[in-house]
Formats: sequence, structure tokens, C-alpha cells
Amino acid sequence: MSGKDPKRPGLRPSSIAPPAPSAATPPPPAPPPAAPTDDERWMEVALTHAKNGRPSPNPHVGAVVVLDGELVASAHHERAGTDHAEVVALRAAGARSIGASLYVTLEPCNHHGRTPPCTDAIIASKVARVVIGCRDPNPHVEGDGATKLRAAGIEVVVGVREDKALAWIAPWAKHITLGLPYVSLKLALSLDGRIATRTGESKWVTGPDARAKVHLLRSRSDGIAIGIGTALADDPRLTVRDTPGESPLRIVFDTKLRLPIDSRLVQTARDVPTLVLCGLEAPVSAEEELLRAGVECVRGPVSAEGRLDVLAALRSLAQRGIVSLMVEGGAELAGSLLAGRYADELHVFVAPILLGPRGRAGAVDWAGPDTPQKAPRIASPAWELVGNDAYVHGPILYPE
Ligand SMILES: NC(=O)c1ccc[n+]([C@@H]2O[C@H](COP(=O)([O-])OP(=O)(O)OC[C@H]3O[C@@H](n4cnc5c(N)ncnc54)[C@H](OP(=O)(O)O)[C@@H]3O)[C@@H](O)[C@H]2O)c1
Repeated sequence: MSGKDPKRPGLRPSSIAPPAPSAATPPPPAPPPAAPTDDERWMEVALTHAKNGRPSPNPHVGAVVVLDGELVASAHHERAGTDHAEVVALRAAGARSIGASLYVTLEPCNHHGRTPPCTDAIIASKVARVVIGCRDPNPHVEGDGATKLRAAGIEVVVGVREDKALAWIAPWAKHITLGLPYVSLKLALSLDGRIATRTGESKWVTGPDARAKVHLLRSRSDGIAIGIGTALADDPRLTVRDTPGESPLRIVFDTKLRLPIDSRLVQTARDVPTLVLCGLEAPVSAEEELLRAGVECVRGPVSAEGRLDVLAALRSLAQRGIVSLMVEGGAELAGSLLAGRYADELHVFVAPILLGPRGRAGAVDWAGPDTPQKAPRIASPAWELVGNDAYVHGPILYPE
């Protein structure tokens, strides 16, 4: 992934400008999209397997073994510490891996981690070809899996469906290269861009289908964060309820430790792990009370504005293994993350309701850009209808 910004997975500016259309000659019709090659089709199958499992802090990886145009075996990386996807697929293929093609979404590892090098298992399997989605961006590991496979006489193709393969490993790539979690910012808005009523009420802006989607997103994250403003206004549980899956670590940005002991977060802290990030000067008595209730408190530096230093807070979360962090508001925390360019992905639900101008000032409380051209944006937005709500999501691009 050399030369690419891990904060912008899969987004590359076009370097070749198309010729300007002339008024005299109509532009030629666009050529039909090229049919996918066999390698692209099988890599797509491997990519569908990559989304399975809960491998954090490892990356999502999928693999398939194909012999004479037929699928022999498929697998994904289920959990950190278990065998990697390509090793599981080759084991399932058995003798049918001899002379076959292995499709794997991430370059196979060539080093001893918690499991032996995948390159050894691939060479031993006697596959003829290995097709790789994207290179391993890990700067901390020595050894080049593709080179070792080629040296063993295996044909290796790298970069098939690379953008999609990079998108699957984006959280892991950011975590290992920058030491920061990959931040997904979720906002639920009214048509007039408000996140709560004039009384501060936000339950519920969006409908049940959108909320179920949010629970699915939570179940795929290592942590869910809110600011103390949301904790005080909404008293949320922040658990995974409307979908199967484990509840991730619940995190509150709370400089002065104002989180009430009788809040639902604190009252359920013995069942669902809960962490409060607070300032170095936060009252010790409040920390002791929270600790007794099963809440972990982590102190960190405070910025000139008197709030938690966001970069230091994110670093401390990454150090404790939070690779993917979902931030569920409110406006002030969202504003700090966007202003600092720490948010990597947006998940915005827009409900067909109007909350009025005396509702919260807006979804994101920050100065914002001085021109629309400088506005952070979803470069390739995916739009969906979820129940009665619109759902737009995708990686954030920050123009220079
Ligand atoms: N519709 C939605 O999706 C949605 C989601 C969430 C919330 N809401 C609504 O939003 C409202 C709450 O929003 P809010 O903006 O007041 O609350 P917020 O962003 O959840 O919390 C803000 C507070 O977090 C603390 N904080 C600590 N470090 C921070 C940092 N670096 N940057 C920003 N904040 C930091 C600050 O208090 P200290 O200085 O005391 O630590 C700050 O006042 C409620 O009405 C809630 O219902 C709506």
C-alpha cells in the first residue's frame, strides 16, 4: 500500500483528464464495461468470504481454492489466533489443491506470529497459482509473501480487485500503520439536519429498520464511543440488541467524570465492558465510585479548550486493541473528530421528519470548511433506503 493514505482506503484521484467535449462532434458512446476476468470473478467470491468472522485485531481475509474452473474450498479468518483464511481453505481442499489456483484477498504472511507463516503451508500444498487482492501494508513485519511464493516456483498475481480488498483491511491497515483506530461516525438526522428536538430528545429520530442497521454496525466494531453530553441526555445502553453479535466496549468521553452512577451504562458495566476516558484532573472520588461499579477509567491529557485531547484519547484506545471504533455522537464529539480529520467513514441516516430550527444547532458542532470545495465528503457514497429512512455511507475524503 506504499504511497497511499490509509485514512482514504480505496480512494485515488484520477491523474488522466478526459478530453474536453467539443460542440461540433458529439462524444462517442461510452464503451460497455469490460466483462470480469476469471481471476476477478473468483476474487469477488473470496471477498464475500472476507466479511465473515470477528478477527480483530487481525484483518478480515477471505480465500478460495479453484481447480479446473471449479470451486474446491472456501474460507475466512474467523478469530485472531486461529488459522488464517488461506490455510483453512487449503486444508479443506486437501489433495485437490495440487495444481489449483488459490485466491486470497490479502498477501499471505511470511513470518511467525501467533500462527506459522502461511507461505509455508501454500508451498506445501503444491498449488500452481496464487492470486492476491492487495499487498500486506504492515510496516512491522519483515518478509515478502509474494516473493517467497515466486521463489518456490508458484505463479503469483497481485492486485486483483485491489480497491475492494483494501477496503476490507482499512481498519487494520490504519491501526498498524498509524497506531489509531479506524473511526466510523454515525449520525441520525431529521430532514432539516437536526439530531434532537429543542428539548434535547433524540429517541427516536430514525425508524426501527435504521436502528437495527446501527446495531449491526455496532456488532462489527471493537468499541462504541459517545460524549458525556449524549450519556446525560439519552441515558443509552449502547449494546447490540436487534441483531446477533457481541456488544463491544462502550466508551464515554467525559473530561470531568460527570457520568452518573445510576446511568444505564454504569448500572450494566458488570455485564458489558465500559470505559470512561477522563482528564488528568478529574475528581478521584468519582473515579473510585465508577471503579466500584465495574467501570474502567483511563486518564489522559486535556486540550486548551478544556476537553480531552482527541489524538491522545484515540491512541490510548488503539493501544488497548480497539481497531474499529464507532462513534455515535453527539454533535460536539462528532465535530472534534471531523475537525481533527480522525473520522474515516460516515454512516448517516436521514429520517423524513422535521425537528425545527430550535433543535440542536446541527449534527456536527464545528467551524466547518470556508468553501464547499474544502468540505469533507463521501467520495463514492452508497445510498440505501432503510425502512422510511435514507442511509448514506462510505469512506470520508478530506480535500487538501
Ligand atoms: N441523533 C443522533 O444520532 C444523536 C446521537 C447522539 C446524541 N444525540 C443528541 O445529541 C445531544 C448531545 O450532544 P452534545 O454535542 O451535547 O454531546 P456529546 O458530543 O455526546 O458530548 C459532548 C461532551 O463530551 C465531552 N468531551 C470530552 N472530550 C471531548 C472532545 N474532545 N470533543 C468533544 N466533546 C468532548 C465534553 O464534555 P466534558 O468537557 O464535560 O467532558 C462535551 O461537552 C443530545 O441531545 C442527544 O440526544 C443525537
